[in-house]
Amino acid sequence: MDGTVIHDNSTTLLADVAFQTASIPTIDTSLYSLSSEESTFFKAQIGIDNDEDLKGHILDVQAKAYKIAPYPCIHGFVFLRLNISSYSVYEHILKLGRERPDAVLLDLGCCFGVDARKAAADGFPAKNVIASDISNEFLELSHELFRTTPTSYPGCLLPGDAPAIDLSSLKSLNPLHGRISAISATRLFHLFTEDKQVHLARALAGLLSAQPGSVICGYQIGTLEKGMVTANISGSEHRLFAHSPKTWSSLWDGEVFEKGSVKVETELVEVAIREVQLLMMEWSVVRL
Ligand SMILES: C[S@@+](CC[C@H](N)C(=O)[O-])C[C@H]1O[C@@H](n2cnc3c(N)ncnc32)[C@H](O)[C@@H]1O
Repeated sequence: MDGTVIHDNSTTLLADVAFQTASIPTIDTSLYSLSSEESTFFKAQIGIDNDEDLKGHILDVQAKAYKIAPYPCIHGFVFLRLNISSYSVYEHILKLGRERPDAVLLDLGCCFGVDARKAAADGFPAKNVIASDISNEFLELSHELFRTTPTSYPGCLLPGDAPAIDLSSLKSLNPLHGRISAISATRLFHLFTEDKQVHLARALAGLLSAQPGSVICGYQIGTLEKGMVTANISGSEHRLFAHSPKTWSSLWDGEVFEKGSVKVETELVEVAIREVQLLMMEWSVVRL
């Protein structure tokens, strides 16, 4: 399973987060919902007009994905949300796609790559959009969800382990080093330990273009004081490491990038997932 899920008798690991296997909820199709914007997007992208047919198709793909790795975002149909277009830097990202020759957008930890497809649909040149995930099976399901093939969809689907990005080899081997104009990491950082989050942040900084305006953005569980938080997700409790807006800002502005060389914005948002309140952090880091 591409290293995403490790089973022993009682615990399932999704990246660094342990789930009690027995408490992983079974699929609940009543959680399926689409806003009118999402419905329009998926109908147009998949080529299905009818609501019931669309739902049947999405449920089919969701069930396959949940068998690969039972992420809460798959259980709760959160993968249907158009995250990237809600970010404050979204228009800026689209502008980079329009105005910067060969601008590249990377959707990291993309699962089905919905955000990558959304940005491409909104005009970011699709051939320069990379959707990457540790699970190649999720990337294959991206084609199944959107009814595309590697030939019909010009975007790039790239399997890879994000925190293991090795900058020293990137410099010589990987043409992406310093080449990416915009990186989006939605619901990814909180899957890792504090140390791995720092490593991932540094790796992303290494991928980012040196041009002013290049941007990294994302969304993950946040907290008022950095540390381990207990999040109740899909009916079970998980221990995750979360940054506060203050520590997240000083990590990027001063540790990962030279102090004063980036503009960091963070916003904590209280989100209700059914009856449970979660503190999430939306953030962006723009090179000055
Ligand atoms: C919670 S899901 C979020 C998916 C999507 N970004 C969203 O918000 O709907 C986390 C995704 O990160 C991927 N992932 C987990 N560990 C990873 C790693 N080490 N490198 C890259 N992707 C990883 C998982 O396979 C999964 O698709």
